[in-house]
Amino acid sequence: MKQRLHWFAMHGVIRAVAGWSARRGDPQARLLADPQVRADPVAFYEELRAQGPVIRSRAGYLTVDHAVAHELLRSDDFRVITLGANLPAPLRWLERRTRDDLLHPLRPPSLLAVEPPEHTRYRKTVSSVFTTRAVAALRDRVEDTADGLLDGLAAGPGVVDVVERYCGQLPVAVIGDILGVPDADRPKILEFGELAAPSLDIGLSWPQYQQVQHGIAGFTRWLADHLRQLRAHPGEDLMSELIAVSDNGERLTETELQGIAGLVLAAGFETTVNLLGNGIRLLLNHPDQLAILADDPSLWSGAVEEILRLESPVQLSARVARRDTDVAGTPVRAGEMVVIYLAAANRDPSVFDDPHRFDVTRANAGKHLAFSGGRHFCLGAALARAEGEVGLRRFFTHFPDVQLAGLGNRRPTRVLRGWAELPVSLGSSASGHPNPRFAQTL
Ligand code: HEM
Repeated sequence: MKQRLHWFAMHGVIRAVAGWSARRGDPQARLLADPQVRADPVAFYEELRAQGPVIRSRAGYLTVDHAVAHELLRSDDFRVITLGANLPAPLRWLERRTRDDLLHPLRPPSLLAVEPPEHTRYRKTVSSVFTTRAVAALRDRVEDTADGLLDGLAAGPGVVDVVERYCGQLPVAVIGDILGVPDADRPKILEFGELAAPSLDIGLSWPQYQQVQHGIAGFTRWLADHLRQLRAHPGEDLMSELIAVSDNGERLTETELQGIAGLVLAAGFETTVNLLGNGIRLLLNHPDQLAILADDPSLWSGAVEEILRLESPVQLSARVARRDTDVAGTPVRAGEMVVIYLAAANRDPSVFDDPHRFDVTRANAGKHLAFSGGRHFCLGAALARAEGEVGLRRFFTHFPDVQLAGLGNRRPTRVLRGWAELPVSLGSSASGHPNPRFAQTL
């Protein structure tokens, strides 16, 4: 009963209102409830762009404008949102009375839901172990892991779901290595992640909500147990280091440690899977761009930026005004929310020429906001870029003749955008004889 009331407060009412508001043209509601918009958000982003840099909706404001998004993410007049905080007062009251104490990416102590001074303290703790040097040292490991997975693919049948067999496996193996997750636990972690992926969305149905809760509960239990084991038997991994720092230096509570470690682990594999899947799909749809990369492999890092720009794995974020302020001349009152469409800002024609064109040589692709900006800028960006670059290049090196073998299916999530399933025909494998055109190491 408590769970059902929590769903009602968090999602049920919004779901009902969104359907009604969408039919009346409310832009935020259409994004939630209009099947056509879900099928093709890009066309809708362009409709919104025509309405100006800041657009009013029932739930607050939204923007698809690059300059406004860039500014908002850095503004001290705004803070991150926390789960339930923006509900109308009676629903907020109900949400608080019925919530559980499981981890959630949008509830403190997750980094995504806190601001200074907590944010500064937590971020300093993670950054002290997750250093640029530590990430740079991981490149070889990313390459070995990718090659191991690709050799496994080459040994099997010619048509595979590349998301299941590769895009999903590489990030969890890499972040699992970094954080000391035993190999045997990885399938379980992937399953929890898959169940919990819609946790960033609002307006979930009751079955979706139950599925998310099931995933989050399993993940919370597993993580508590994992941290207990690492505390008793520390390893050479960054999670053991994080425990040591939190016990000695920064003195994090167990809940804080779990929230921080849980977010790094989940963010480490729930997003990069989409970068790899989106990248493979885009490149297979654009053989001319693949040929450019084959001729000049030094373009791979720029290609990853272009993939992040055009098919952003995290489509949106949101901020709440701390005080009465204005955004590009539109007054916004304290407590009002602005939804920032990162994916749409990444197609802003005032920044990117011919913005819908996929161009791996685009000089300013790196101006995208796919990793957000300001103090919440993605902490794993360097790792994600390395995984994207190595993962995609090695894939096309191993399978130079790979082709799509079906239309595939998009993930049902709205905040996260990627492929749930992408069948490909691998063609002959170049394993052992890497295609020299792709083979240059990073
Ligand atoms: C292509 C892959 C990735 C994308 C597109 C991505 C995107 C993002 C975005 C948009 C945010 C900020 C959200 C906001 O401002 O509200 C973020 C934050 C974060 N990401 Fe990533 N991410 C990726 C990979 C990773 C990886 C591999 C890790 C872990 C190693 C990671 C860890 C984090 C953490 C811990 C935060 C919270 C930072 C903070 O709030 O201070 N991400 N990411």
